[in-house]
Amino acid sequence: MDVIGYHHEDAGQPPSLAPAYASTVARSPRQPLVQIPHTLTEVTGPTGVWDKLMGPSRADLTRQQRGEPLGQRIVVSGRVLDEAGRPVPHTVIEIWQCNAAGRYIHHRDQWDAPLDPNFTGAGLVVTDEAGAYEFTTIRPGAYPWGNHYNAWRPAHIHLSMLGPAFATRLVTQLYFPDDPLIEIDPIANAVPLPYRQRMVARFDIGTTRPNWALGYIFDIVLRGRDATPFEGA
Ligand SMILES: [Fe+2]
Repeated sequence: MDVIGYHHEDAGQPPSLAPAYASTVARSPRQPLVQIPHTLTEVTGPTGVWDKLMGPSRADLTRQQRGEPLGQRIVVSGRVLDEAGRPVPHTVIEIWQCNAAGRYIHHRDQWDAPLDPNFTGAGLVVTDEAGAYEFTTIRPGAYPWGNHYNAWRPAHIHLSMLGPAFATRLVTQLYFPDDPLIEIDPIANAVPLPYRQRMVARFDIGTTRPNWALGYIFDIVLRGRDATPFEGA
């Protein structure tokens, strides 16, 4: 098949076409991209009022239901930074993930793993003046998917960053450093080494809470030479 696909100018960003990740074959463009002029519609947005639109911060995914979810409790923290390493405050980060058994609360997720009545898997945090964020959750499990025979996604947390305008939304996945599934995962492997490592959180004993939760650090760089790989970039 003769396919074009679109390669981002930054080598660290995944191409829109990564044939081993099967669904990219149908959804990647076959024609050159068309630049859309940025008008007020694209460059403005509800800056400063995201919380009014989206509700208050939901930074503890383990305290959303009557009881506590099953699984390994973790605290994820980090900063959102621009290309010069400057903090990006007031960035809304949406969080979604499966439960410890690897199952999402979604009608299309029907694989044979239990739902957890005490875990929804959806959160939201906003970076502070130092660009910092933190949330508490449980470590998600691996889950099977239909990409190829015996395909399993590595444990991951989906993160979406909303900037000051509607056109400034970036989506990525956070992986865990001790996961053997990363190296055989077509989604993670759409990002070439060494950039792939930028999607892997770092275990940190300093932010690990004694008798409570393991700590992971995940800094997100929005663009530039140190940019975090983003989906659909
Ligand atoms: Fe997922």
